[in-house]
Amino acid sequence: MQPPLDRLLRSSLRAFAPYKPGTSVDEVRRRYGIEHPVKLSQNENPLGSSPKAMAALHAIADLSAYIEDDHAALRERLARPYGLGVEHVVLGHGSNELVQVLFNAFVDPGDEVVMGKPTFSLFRKDADLAGGRSIEVPLRDGVHDLDAMLAAVTARTKLVFVCDPNNPTGTRVERAALFAFARALPPDVLLVIDQAYREFMDADGTDGVDVLRERPMTVVLRTASKIYGLAAIRFGYAYGSPEIVDTLNRVRLPFNVAGPAAAAVLAALDDREFFARSIETNERGKRQLYAAFERLGVHAYPTAANFIAVATPIDAQAAYLALLERGVIVRSGDGLGMPGYLRVTVGTEPENAAFVAAFEALLAEWRRRPMEAAR
Ligand SMILES: Cc1ncc(COP(=O)(O)O)c(C=O)c1O
Repeated sequence: MQPPLDRLLRSSLRAFAPYKPGTSVDEVRRRYGIEHPVKLSQNENPLGSSPKAMAALHAIADLSAYIEDDHAALRERLARPYGLGVEHVVLGHGSNELVQVLFNAFVDPGDEVVMGKPTFSLFRKDADLAGGRSIEVPLRDGVHDLDAMLAAVTARTKLVFVCDPNNPTGTRVERAALFAFARALPPDVLLVIDQAYREFMDADGTDGVDVLRERPMTVVLRTASKIYGLAAIRFGYAYGSPEIVDTLNRVRLPFNVAGPAAAAVLAALDDREFFARSIETNERGKRQLYAAFERLGVHAYPTAANFIAVATPIDAQAAYLALLERGVIVRSGDGLGMPGYLRVTVGTEPENAAFVAAFEALLAEWRRRPMEAAR
């Protein structure tokens, strides 16, 4: 690094690792000359975007004016199903932005933030950026260990993150355990429940808003990126008490949600057909993938989301690279704090089949190898 920049840089940034989104389709095209790779690496919606959202985007004729920054109609629409009001909803440029806004609002250097390990990497990254101390509590059997997380809370703890369903394992916590945890937390600690994948949960999954109703020092994060297939427009939202929402609104950037994004989401929220088809595709894809994993004799965590963490007997990074060569993009668990596992997004039937075929070929090759070496 050039010396003057070294002097300028905030100390929390000196050892700062950027967020790594995984390999892009373009990269695979360039590196391997594969024109149409199968991308199952970013937990996107395999059906594309909500058609109603796309129609709303196409109907936009003018972008010259600043928008009404309070997005009252959209916030009211998000609040309505819960019987809440606009004062309970804050919007973000993706839920990623809201994570950073939470840190900007609440975390001073040296403050502690409790989270699972592994969990969504942005929690740790934003804690580093804020100079906060991440207290990472290992999952137990792939699930947040809420007792150990509670034991990790101290007088310096400001935020506690429960990612439910958890990225990268896909697992969810039990409803009774989450409520007991929420009740046992000190009242001045903010519980953040990241539910980017909430819509994919079955009926036993917990709605974070139910926790919020009981414990106002709770924030529930959601996104339009997954279920509505709108990752590119960057839209996330959070439910919280009016006081917390007001604080976050004061900290976020003005006009953080673009007009087209708001219009697309407002339309997507009424796209029941796309919503239902997305859930149905995910359920069918999960059955297809779990059946294949059972046949192949590899462990996979039970998922409550639209991706599955599956064990690979081959080094995860090597498996990931070998799959790339075969035109299938997944995430290696090595970079996600989940060594020995791959994270695979549930795709369409042909996408899942392409992944299974490539994975199976890889395992067969690997199983032959020691025998060949012994000959
Ligand atoms: C747990 C979790 N939270 C949040 C996000 C990001 O959501 P957004 O696209 O709204 O920023 C993701 C995306 O992968 C995620 O896995």
